[in-house]
Amino acid sequence: MILVTGATGHFGKSTIDFLLKKGISSTNIVALVRDEAKAGDLKAKGITIRTGDYHNYDSLINAFEGINKLLLVSSSDITDRTRQQQNVVSAAKEAGVKHILYTSTERKNETATSPIHFVTGSHIETENIIKASGIPYTIFRNNLYLDMLPIFFGQQVLEKGVFLPTGETSAAFSTRDDMAEAAANVLISDGHENKDYGISNTENVSVPEIVKSLGEVVGKEIGYVSPTSELFIETMTKAGVPEQFVGMFAGFSEAIRQGEFETFNTDLEMLLGRKPVSAKEFLTGFYAPKN
Ligand SMILES: NC(=O)c1ccc[n+]([C@@H]2O[C@H](COP(=O)([O-])OP(=O)(O)OC[C@H]3O[C@@H](n4cnc5c(N)ncnc54)[C@H](OP(=O)(O)O)[C@@H]3O)[C@@H](O)[C@H]2O)c1
Repeated sequence: MILVTGATGHFGKSTIDFLLKKGISSTNIVALVRDEAKAGDLKAKGITIRTGDYHNYDSLINAFEGINKLLLVSSSDITDRTRQQQNVVSAAKEAGVKHILYTSTERKNETATSPIHFVTGSHIETENIIKASGIPYTIFRNNLYLDMLPIFFGQQVLEKGVFLPTGETSAAFSTRDDMAEAAANVLISDGHENKDYGISNTENVSVPEIVKSLGEVVGKEIGYVSPTSELFIETMTKAGVPEQFVGMFAGFSEAIRQGEFETFNTDLEMLLGRKPVSAKEFLTGFYAPKN
């Protein structure tokens, strides 16, 4: 029996859809959700729903009964995330889970000097907790989602262009669906125990290159300005963007600029058995005018 956490979120839902497409019976899939009201579509597909919250250890113990493989989708609530995910690992151990898989992050700088330590810190701690638990594991070092680009660019990107302090450094952005398909492939095949996979595109592209491609997709030139981090924070704050979003955009942009997401790892291509979706293909799907 396979359990997928975060099943009412994008990654968990996509992984379950790939499991079904690849022939896994819905009766062999369990979805962990914290709000059953959001699980109507999963129920309609015949997936067993179990409720549990990463903050509530007892709920997790009950939910993990009889589970062999558990995909822990990292919590979207980054406050106290290590503790939440420690609960998941401890409950998995107590419930006798045979294999735990975790959606971690690509990174190079593992110290507190990383501009995205507020995210990477708890991912690294969780990897260490998983490895110390003795449960066979697979770690997915997920690169940045291409799907985040429209959020970083903002709704007026086609009129106003892109203002982001990423500089000209490349990153191996990949689609969330490709990453979820790779996770599904690992869940349904053997030989992935005690491995760390780099889940990155085989192409590295910079934000100015992406902006150029975007212009080609929509048939007009799109501007790109890479300000200093300080000017970016000042401008966003004056524009009324909430502090937490300014910090997130600035941190991830600086991490891109420092090369944290540039990698030539080919594990994603290997796990998919094909080239990952490129940035240009993603932009075409998202921005190309629909008839
Ligand atoms: N690589 C990247 O570029 C990137 C970008 C964004 C996020 N991420 C990370 O990747 C994860 C998966 O991405 P996503 O797009 O699927 O995010 P998402 O759509 O926000 O899904 C996150 C899931 O985590 C669940 N969750 C949050 N707190 C929980 C708790 N205390 N107990 C149980 N479940 C909890 C949410 O439940 P609800 O449905 O009830 O809210 C949701 O189902 C994110 O959570 C984040 O850690 C990576």
